[in-house]
Amino acid sequence: KMNTFVSALMGKMTLEEKIGQLNLLTPGGGVLTGSVVSSDVEAKISKGNVGGLFGVIGVEKIRQAQELAVTKSRLKIPLIFGSDVIHGYKTTFPIPLGLSCSWDLPLIEHSARLAATEASADGLCWVYSPMVDIARDPRWGRVAEGSGEDTYLGSKIAAAMVHGYQGNRLGDKNSVMACVKHFALYGAAEAGRDYNTTDMSRIKMYEYYLPPYKAAIDAGAGSVMTSFNEIDGIPATANKWLLTDLLRKQWGFKGFVVTDYTAINEMMAHGLGNLQTVSALALKAGVDMDMVGEGFVTTLQQSLKEHKVTLTEINDACRRVLEAKYKLGLFEDPYRYCNTATATKEVLSADKRQAARELGARSCVLLKNDRQTLPLKKSGTIALVGPLANNKSNMLGTWAVSGDAQLSVPVLDGMKQVAGSGVNILYAKGANISDDTSFAKKVNVFGERIDIDTRTPEQLLTEALTTAAKADVVVAVVGEASEMSGEAASRSDIGIPESQRKLLAALAQTGKPLVVVLMSGRPLTLTTENEQATSLLEVWFQGHEAGNAIADVLFGNYNPSGKLTMSFPRNVGQIPIYYNYKNTGRPQPEGPTQKFRSNYLDVANDPLFPFGYGLSYTTFKYEGLTLSANKISGGKTIDVAFKLTNTGAYAGEEIVQLYLRDQEASVTRPVKELKDFQKIKLQPGESKTVHFTIDKEKLSFFNSQLQWVAEPGTFDLMIGASSADIRLKETFELL
Ligand code: IFM
Repeated sequence: KMNTFVSALMGKMTLEEKIGQLNLLTPGGGVLTGSVVSSDVEAKISKGNVGGLFGVIGVEKIRQAQELAVTKSRLKIPLIFGSDVIHGYKTTFPIPLGLSCSWDLPLIEHSARLAATEASADGLCWVYSPMVDIARDPRWGRVAEGSGEDTYLGSKIAAAMVHGYQGNRLGDKNSVMACVKHFALYGAAEAGRDYNTTDMSRIKMYEYYLPPYKAAIDAGAGSVMTSFNEIDGIPATANKWLLTDLLRKQWGFKGFVVTDYTAINEMMAHGLGNLQTVSALALKAGVDMDMVGEGFVTTLQQSLKEHKVTLTEINDACRRVLEAKYKLGLFEDPYRYCNTATATKEVLSADKRQAARELGARSCVLLKNDRQTLPLKKSGTIALVGPLANNKSNMLGTWAVSGDAQLSVPVLDGMKQVAGSGVNILYAKGANISDDTSFAKKVNVFGERIDIDTRTPEQLLTEALTTAAKADVVVAVVGEASEMSGEAASRSDIGIPESQRKLLAALAQTGKPLVVVLMSGRPLTLTTENEQATSLLEVWFQGHEAGNAIADVLFGNYNPSGKLTMSFPRNVGQIPIYYNYKNTGRPQPEGPTQKFRSNYLDVANDPLFPFGYGLSYTTFKYEGLTLSANKISGGKTIDVAFKLTNTGAYAGEEIVQLYLRDQEASVTRPVKELKDFQKIKLQPGESKTVHFTIDKEKLSFFNSQLQWVAEPGTFDLMIGASSADIRLKETFELL
């Protein structure tokens, strides 16, 4: 049916109208996510020169633009409306890196479902998410938007998010089309500098970087966005191997490919030729829609005349865009997603705020908790200090383009509400996020996020110390401003800014128990803070319900269960750092640095906080590992079982992790790889037998011919509470 409809429509289209469908514009005046704004948008829509818009927010504006397309343009083809719905729409959830630390796939899927419900109620039908770029370099600011360093977990989350966005069926009024990004390898930008070159072997791509994109596509994602970087010397946006051979032919992708913002034009700066050349290259590679740059609309007709592109290539791209609109039901009803009553009901609804609070609490990772300082007692006096303790502007984190920061709950308010009247909470700012005005100016380009107090740093500090002196415990909320991570927010020093380091040092000197609550969009270097703090809670950026969610964790209404999905390095020199490293020929033995070994003279090899790490207010015992067989052959499986017991005083959830190591293979294999996990809830004293299944898939990898194979031999099986805290170990053999 779709084919017949689209073919009939294309039969009526002029060449100009077909190319018009490949043109995606952003009119400005709303959300701006790049440095170019499209001009004469209304006239272009009326002429049938536009296929879609993004950055237009709200039913009324979307309806107006759609009206132009379906009343003024000759063939009345509806527009597709997209937006960066990255961690919630108007209701803002924790940043994706935070959400990933919940390891809670149903909950993550639910967050995407809620975002889809809210965004589609407000006129949108296409979201630029999930971002599934694997990243091993926390200098890169966009780690905030992804799910961390691990391929297995990242792939599961990618699929869960696509299911959440697209719901039961594309075309349902509360579903939106997902757009997997950034295809591909964007997370491997050299030195963590955004937009930088990437260079990696095919085997590394296949094994570690490509699977999450594939998982999203297998889950049915309707569209893919190209990345800014090059791959094997060819920018992704002109990379035929990537967009056609791999994506469409090998993986069977049937949706459409959109570029990132002006990515076609940027290939001129990459050095591939003029606008006509790079536009032709992009089309030929497999790009269907040109975001903002208008290279397609301005050059493809000429390229066709000069036989630099073919009509089939233009037709194919046009067909894919029209098919997406068909799947979204836009031909049936161009205003399908424009219903003011639904928008009023869904946007910022109470259930979404409640979900934001639950997601927030589940994203927190408890990094340290000496003397059981946390949970805080609901009595006595607490000194709440720090530039992020009573700060609405920085609660949402990066890429909350439709979220209103002023609707967020600051930590001070959340703590007062959750603690109740038995606690006396005293507040002092203590420091600026940064005292460096030129740094603040750079960070503030996306809006006011670092404000410098009119008081001097000394006055701020004195007030904090006076406040601390009156309290039983100090809670310091410190870290990054929202826009210190995200796009174009790479940092070479990933510590907390100097102003806040001074504050923590002074607070530590007081001898009071010091709870450090860390807000950040990336792993930070925290060696000193880890020594100073009694307790350390990483909360990322939580979104609208930040204060309530953090207070729920601080006061024990929710027992933290998050585990890190990215390693926290000891210093920047250890980067790139990740748990699934290769052994090398000269691995570091246990103990100190040795000559002629793969180690540093000045720092250990391991991170400060490893992948998979996170504490709870309770403790868990792992025991009694059994394998149903110690040998596996062909299509057989091994059932792995062990007993998990909550041995502490609080109900809690434990994320149990299964790692494997292939002891010998035709290509080198990592020292361990996550292959499964479960999140188990237990009451104090309660036990549960946890089961995992080992099958051939879990033992497979890409060999040097890029074939997915499982080779016979011995495997180590490790069950742990983190990648570095292996509690149970066994070996088995693949025959
Ligand atoms: O979706 C984003 C992308 O992640 C980065 N560049 C701009 C796009 C559209 O806003």
